[in-house]
Amino acid sequence: MTEKSDKKIHPSPEPSGGSFARERWATRIGLVLAMAGNAIGLGNFLRFPVQCAGNGGGAFMVPYIIAFVLLGIPLMWIEWGIGRFGGKYGHGTTPGMFHYLWRHPAAKYLGAIGIAIPFGLVVYYTYIESWTLAYSIFSITGKYFGIQNHQGMVDFLAGYQGKAVNGYFNGIGTAYLFFMITMILNVWILSRGISRGIERLANVAIPMIFVFGFILLIRVFTLGTPDPAYPDRNVWNGLGFIWNPDFRALGNAKVWLAATGQIFFTLSVGFGAIQTYASYLSKRDDVVLSGLATSSANEFAEVILGGSIAIPVTVAFFGLQQTRQIASGGAFDLGFFAMPIIFQKLPFGQFFGAIWFFLLFLAGITSSVSMAQPLVSFLQEEFKLAKKQAAYVVGGLAFFLMQPVIFFLKHGFLDEMDFWIGTFGLVVFALVEVILFIWVFGSRNAWKEICTGADIRIPRIFYPIIKYVTPAYLIILMGVWFWQDGMNVLLMKGVRPENYPYIWFARFVLAGILLLMVALVRIAWQKRHYIQQRIPS
Ligand code: TRP
Repeated sequence: MTEKSDKKIHPSPEPSGGSFARERWATRIGLVLAMAGNAIGLGNFLRFPVQCAGNGGGAFMVPYIIAFVLLGIPLMWIEWGIGRFGGKYGHGTTPGMFHYLWRHPAAKYLGAIGIAIPFGLVVYYTYIESWTLAYSIFSITGKYFGIQNHQGMVDFLAGYQGKAVNGYFNGIGTAYLFFMITMILNVWILSRGISRGIERLANVAIPMIFVFGFILLIRVFTLGTPDPAYPDRNVWNGLGFIWNPDFRALGNAKVWLAATGQIFFTLSVGFGAIQTYASYLSKRDDVVLSGLATSSANEFAEVILGGSIAIPVTVAFFGLQQTRQIASGGAFDLGFFAMPIIFQKLPFGQFFGAIWFFLLFLAGITSSVSMAQPLVSFLQEEFKLAKKQAAYVVGGLAFFLMQPVIFFLKHGFLDEMDFWIGTFGLVVFALVEVILFIWVFGSRNAWKEICTGADIRIPRIFYPIIKYVTPAYLIILMGVWFWQDGMNVLLMKGVRPENYPYIWFARFVLAGILLLMVALVRIAWQKRHYIQQRIPS
């Protein structure tokens, strides 16, 4: 009896029966931490400093902040708004959300992209995440201690990844072990669900990231001049290297693109992951202030912590010349080659090394669960799998697809996936969702949707920004990216011919993931006979 009356208070959101209460975030702070965990990732600590130092230093912050305001914040609000909107109808993923934004049969298939992108990302991101766990253990045990130069650390990583046979590892076994541990942890957290899994993880992991980040920041700022023989190798020159503005860089389109790309990547917008998290809000929960709080936490971790650790410490130990060289090799060179050498020169280096890599691991795992959650939610809601089952299915599928990522790493398999998903796919998807939400659903409706329940008022200026500037910005970005990089990647410029088959295989896997999601959407809709309905009150 009581159950029946309960149902009246919480009317079934589903027209076709089989309703179930959706999970909810337990607390608001938990939600913001989980969303911050989604956004704060390896990108904040490795990608940002390299991008900033390599693209005009302090001047990089000009296009970066512009992209943050015109693109990052609006997309944040849009995605939170779309997510909470979908949650009202019992949908945690974009096929269902788009279905209600645009009453057209094609909408749900566009939404399939919003599951394929984050899931595709899981397939390679989780492997990288597992390296950080391994390196944190290698720091404690001092496994790489004794390797004093860059080339040595390059060989060490290559040995670990099974790319080269050398004295450091017997094949890929160790990497595989850490990969398995990372996978099991991810699936375990997912199987516990939103509030008992992801939210609890974030409640512990995000404060730890900030504490570890501060410890490292203080350590870096107190370094002074580590080697008196080289007076200009000091931490102040390091901060100067990353922050001294070179305003001539602003005339370079490449710098603007890099800044915009970094905003996308760091905020995790354009992936479909934020919508899923936001769908676990109640329909009158605020999204404006929470979205802003999440973005601010991410920017703090990125600009303050990410900007003061890896680059300054590298300058202090290697000097400007070498740092420039290391940074030009990319984010991983800085994190996995330069940092381990530095830890060996610091007192308590094993400890600092362990917290640096463990910080990266925590940043990684709070992101990877958020990438997997869309498919988990989709299977739960549209196929009525139990939470645990859904998590196991997603874990199993990812595990299967990760094998070529692991074993064909040296053939560029991972990089190919990363371009189509992590650089290009997200701009396309962001454009799709903005058009659907602002232009199809209607800018007035969208604005009302975002502002419902808001704890602060959005400045009115954001209305025209969201309506015109954000989509225009996206179209330009997509076009430029496609012509500058997309064509080269598509035509496999610079790829060694013996790697062609692997690149094609990677594309085959990408297409397979997308088609699988489209097929699942189709099956789900055929089974459920979706009918149009009013917004449940
Ligand atoms: N923002 C994360 C970082 O800075 C990585 C990331 C990119 C991500 N896209 C995502 C995380 C989508 C979750 C979902 O490293």
